[in-house]
Parts: sequence; structure tokens; C-alpha cells
Amino acid sequence: MIIRPFTNNDLAGAAAALVEVHDTDGYPVEGVDDPESWIKSEDVLAAWVAESGSRIVGHVAVMKPQGEAAVDLWVKQSNDDADHVGVLARLFVVQSARKQAAGQRLMEAAVSYARAQGLRLVLDVMVKDASAIRLYERLGWRKIGETVHHFGSGDAIPAVCYVAPTT
Ligand SMILES: CC(C)(COP(=O)(O)OP(=O)(O)OC[C@H]1O[C@@H](n2cnc3c(N)ncnc32)[C@H](O)[C@@H]1OP(=O)(O)O)[C@@H](O)C(=O)NCCC(=O)NCCS
Repeated sequence: MIIRPFTNNDLAGAAAALVEVHDTDGYPVEGVDDPESWIKSEDVLAAWVAESGSRIVGHVAVMKPQGEAAVDLWVKQSNDDADHVGVLARLFVVQSARKQAAGQRLMEAAVSYARAQGLRLVLDVMVKDASAIRLYERLGWRKIGETVHHFGSGDAIPAVCYVAPTT
């Protein structure tokens, strides 16, 4: 398993992996009508993929804040301003490649990039995504609050917000 920076050539493979994860896990809750645009957008600062046998099996991104509750919570609780906050997002690993530390290594790539850029990372995770919550807590991320994620036409789902450890 290789973890490396995302390139445009990875887009189709990452989109296929995302569609697979949506089928198995219902992630993302808003669906995957346009998986390529969901993965690659102007708000992405940097992204990485997990590759296994020339297949993209995982992905993570660091994104600019776009009004997320986790950013607001962190800015209120800290002396950080929003310009020094990044959002860890778009984390997924296909089921067949799980439990081999791809998720952990993708997280580590994102955290080390953020440190080098002077960004403090935050994220939100749906309460239902228990594997992801275990991963974040194992890596030392700290819960900073709760929110409700609104999507679709009036749907809502509970979520938890986390901040990355400093060391
Ligand atoms: C969350 C997610 C990315 C984790 O991916 P992953 O590659 O399985 O993550 P890791 O391998 O680093 O860790 C997962 C588990 O495997 C275990 N593991 C890691 N390496 C292992 C190894 N070599 N041997 C045995 N177990 C191992 C970890 O201890 C962890 O155990 P736990 O679930 O009991 O706590 C994946 O489950 C996923 O895509 N979920 C659906 C989408 C989602 O929820 N995304 C997050 C949205 S915020």
C-alpha cells in the first residue's frame, strides 16, 4: 500500500472508490451523484491517495474552511483565527483495503502537511461512522463539540467535531 499526493490522473480511480464506499457505508450521506466534483474542488488545499496494485483504494483532503461548525467551534474555543484552520475531509478507504493502516497513514499525511503550513486541522464526523471516530481518537484528535449535518431536502444527521493534536 502506497500513500502519495493526489494527481489529476487519480480522479477516476478515486471517484470509483468513493462510489464503492457509498454503497458499503453510506458515506457521504448526501450521496455521490457527481463523485469527481465532490473529490476535486477549488476548496481543496492538498489531497492524498492510497494506492494498492495500481488501484486507488483510499483518499483524504485538507480543505479551506467553508463555514463548517467545527471551524466555528474551534475558533471560539482557541486563539486561532480562521485563516490558520484547515478542514480534514473526504477520508475514505474501500472496504477490501481496510484494517491495513491506510486510513491512519492518510491522516498522518494530512496532519504533517497542515503542520508545515501552520494550519490547525479540524473535522466533523457523523456519529454513525464509528470506525472513523475510533481512528481519530486513537490518533489523539480531541472532541470539541457536536453539530447536526443538514443535507438533501430537509434531512439531518448528528455529527461530532474534532481538533487535531498539536504533537
Ligand atoms: C474510517 C476509515 C477511513 C478507516 O480506514 P482503514 O484503512 O480501515 O483505517 P486503519 O486501518 O488505519 O484503522 C482501522 C482499524 O484497523 C486496525 N488495523 C490497522 N492496521 C492493522 C493491521 N496491520 N492488522 C490488523 N488491524 C489493523 C486499526 O487498529 C483499526 O482498528 P479499529 O477499527 O478496531 O479501531 C474507513 O473505515 C472508511 O472509509 N469508512 C467509511 C467512510 C468514513 O466513515 N469516512 C470518514 C468520514 S468523516
